[in-house]
Amino acid sequence: MAITIAEINTRNLRHNLQMVRQQVGNIPILAMVKANGYGHSVIDVSRIFRTEKVEYLGVALITEAKLLRDNGDNGKILVMVSPEPTDADTFIDSNIETAFSSFDIVQAFEQRARERDAVITGHLYVDTGMHRDGFPPKDALAVMDYVKDKPNINVVGLMTHLATSDSPEIDFADKQLSAFEKVRSSLENAGFHFKYIHAANSAGIANYPKAHYSMVRPGISLYGMMPTKQLANKLNLKPVMTLKSRVMLVLNVPKGDFIGYSQTYTAQRDMVIAVVPMGYADGLPRNLSNRFQVLINGTRYNSVGSICMDEFMVDITDSDVKRGDEVVIFGKQGNEEIDVYELAELSYSIPYERTAAISQRVNREFIYESHRITNSKFNITHIM
Ligand SMILES: Cc1ncc(COP(=O)(O)O)c(C=O)c1O
Repeated sequence: MAITIAEINTRNLRHNLQMVRQQVGNIPILAMVKANGYGHSVIDVSRIFRTEKVEYLGVALITEAKLLRDNGDNGKILVMVSPEPTDADTFIDSNIETAFSSFDIVQAFEQRARERDAVITGHLYVDTGMHRDGFPPKDALAVMDYVKDKPNINVVGLMTHLATSDSPEIDFADKQLSAFEKVRSSLENAGFHFKYIHAANSAGIANYPKAHYSMVRPGISLYGMMPTKQLANKLNLKPVMTLKSRVMLVLNVPKGDFIGYSQTYTAQRDMVIAVVPMGYADGLPRNLSNRFQVLINGTRYNSVGSICMDEFMVDITDSDVKRGDEVVIFGKQGNEEIDVYELAELSYSIPYERTAAISQRVNREFIYESHRITNSKFNITHIM
């Protein structure tokens, strides 16, 4: 029996998709499921998104797209990260779409698709200021001119990505969106029309209606989070994941003794500690050592000592906590809650990293589905 689990509330997952739909007025959705569905189990969340009729699933890597295909997903999938030339065959064989960010790849994919008498479908990615993926705006027309008479390449989308849409005061998103708008209109004036024009991530969905275009690409919002808690409230999102474990051992530690590796904690009195079987190998960052709290029986308790690879310790002195009690690392218990933002902030990170970093060893358990999916095919294929 798995002790540490990430409980996935599918009712809230569906609710969040609905909230995004309300915000954008029912235009097509590309649901981001990269990085194991931001840690929520990609095959299972993808199945739910498909039953809710999302237009596309979005992943970072071709291997992630292939995993979806191998597990029976037949819908549209867009790979965001620029691929290698040798990936062309996988894109063709599995009918997966690519985001074009470099001319080399456009040429290599066109050549391979022609040799195989196949068609590769892609989206023209334009870099409007983030400087990670995409063509410079000035090159967009040349790319489209190159592909226009090439029947083996079919460009159905025009896209960009916003770097700062979570910080409206910076207004950099406005600059990016006007650069994107310029590219879009110059391409349209040259006769290039795209079925899918997309720019908005979750924060863009919440903050920039003009960024919605004809499709949006929510990721973090579907999982009930946002770059900030205020933005999550704005969209009325509900957290999807609860991370929990159980007390596996209760120990007495005499005053003056050390607790854990490297002797980072000294008992200031006779103490009772609970040992919880979750560590940094499960995705609990070691830099939280001695600095985070957990919930047991609806009460907050302090962690003590360095987080180990597989376990951490909690001060439960003067409580009635016993072996087997549930421990919530983030989520609700009784009337108390530790949200993912708290843990993200304490670990100098962002909510994305806290859920995406939860490793394969932690079972995902789905609640409110007609059947309880545990150990989804994704987990099994990766554990074996
Ligand atoms: C290209 C692209 N679109 C959309 C998203 C989704 O962003 P978010 O999770 O902030 O909604 C990401 C995630 O980083 C992305 O890389």
